[in-house]
Amino acid sequence: MNKTHVFPSSFLWGGATAANQYEGAWNLDGKMASTADMMTSGTHTVPRRITRRIEEGVHYPSHEAVDFYHHYKEDIQLFAEMGFSCFRLSIAWSRIFPNGDDTAPNEAGLQFYDNVFNELRKYNIEPIVTISHYEAPFALTEKFNGWASREAIDCYVRYCKTIFTRYKDVVKYWITFNEINSLIVPAGAFLAGALLVDNSGVFNNTAVDSTQLRFQALHHQLVASAKAVKLAHDINPEFKVGCMINYSCGYGSTCKPEDMLTALRMDQINNMLCSDVQVRGEYPDFARRYFDEKNIHIHMAEEDEEILKQGCVDFYSFSYYKSHVVGTRPEGDETQGNVFGGFKNPYLTANDWGWQIDPVGLRYVLNHVYDRYRIPMMIVENGLGAIDVVEEDGSINDTYRIDFLRDHIEQMKEAVCDGVNLIGYMPWGCIDIVSASTGEMAKRYGFIHVDKDNNGHGTLKRSRKKSFYWYKKVIASNGEDLN
Ligand code: BG6
Repeated sequence: MNKTHVFPSSFLWGGATAANQYEGAWNLDGKMASTADMMTSGTHTVPRRITRRIEEGVHYPSHEAVDFYHHYKEDIQLFAEMGFSCFRLSIAWSRIFPNGDDTAPNEAGLQFYDNVFNELRKYNIEPIVTISHYEAPFALTEKFNGWASREAIDCYVRYCKTIFTRYKDVVKYWITFNEINSLIVPAGAFLAGALLVDNSGVFNNTAVDSTQLRFQALHHQLVASAKAVKLAHDINPEFKVGCMINYSCGYGSTCKPEDMLTALRMDQINNMLCSDVQVRGEYPDFARRYFDEKNIHIHMAEEDEEILKQGCVDFYSFSYYKSHVVGTRPEGDETQGNVFGGFKNPYLTANDWGWQIDPVGLRYVLNHVYDRYRIPMMIVENGLGAIDVVEEDGSINDTYRIDFLRDHIEQMKEAVCDGVNLIGYMPWGCIDIVSASTGEMAKRYGFIHVDKDNNGHGTLKRSRKKSFYWYKKVIASNGEDLN
């Protein structure tokens, strides 16, 4: 097997971000609060709080984030310098429909994304657009508890129609919901704007939870996603629309058959339930038993089955950061991750936030998912959250990040050689942005450093890290030169 020219020349190399972690300008030019704007900063040990009102003197990291809103030209120029052929960003729904159910869109918001997309096109960078990345207009949460209500579907579809029509000629790739499967667990609920109860502990799983409400909200999102896919294809048959799954790779803790079965079951529920609906157009059979056991009764409208069938996605995209162990509790502690956690794996190391580093797991997941769906795959998030040190001369020698990414790209190569149709790679937080789970700035993923600290102080100055030059070489060689 020739492992030199592995990636096709059309391979999309880039990076990924999300509006609420990157843009700032949370209440400028007509934008109103999103659910993410109500989340305070936290740390690894202190969970973020969700407030019903903006509290004075409290730091809400999304409000300024790292101000892409006013730095987009400079940032896109830096992405172009690295050689990006794509860039994943999300549109802030409440910038377009500030209240979620407004009769007309906010022209200033639409104009902002016109400017961003034009700037990307100037450098031949393909935008990959997430329609809803862990946020929704907060007014919808106030009005009818967000996605808990079926009314959210129409609001979302109207928003989709507006952006599909407006950006018909400048955007080709769309992702309906970021990590839609996060709603499977309590920690993901507020991200979907789905609950108005006391959610102060959503990030440590102590929030008041209702499984019934979560799965009903998830159903609404799945229906909304399917409607969006159909609408997208009607508006522009060239559009490619994808699902986006937070892939939680869980190995059985032992070869005991029951542990293997637990791993299979978790894979089905956590990872495959949503993508089965989005890729195949119907709920999988195993969902029925799970819903019965959990006493979940999803209210489906008569037309839902048909809607789901007609809204199958064109590609499968996912985030991959870590793996964990499930089944009989092994020696040692629990491990952490983005939304899904499990037990520690003695064969792996972890980052400072307890996310276990597992490049081979990426090859495993790519093969596993491709075997099931056989549609093009994109890795739209991957990366190492780490504390970077700025040296006296201003340099940042993030060799640990280079090692992490190199090891994962090596495994992508293996997967492509295995036969997986992988079409793109977008490391997360290609420029330092706010952490979603903790609200910190100190947890950095970027090739580009941004001068800002956890309390919101800093000049916002951008500078290139060592990994910037490394990734530039990787892209220029289409993944051949990883040194
Ligand atoms: C993913 C999310 O789950 O993980 C991103 O889609 C998030 O929004 C990323 O930022 C990394 O998580 P964190 O908590 O390190 O920012």
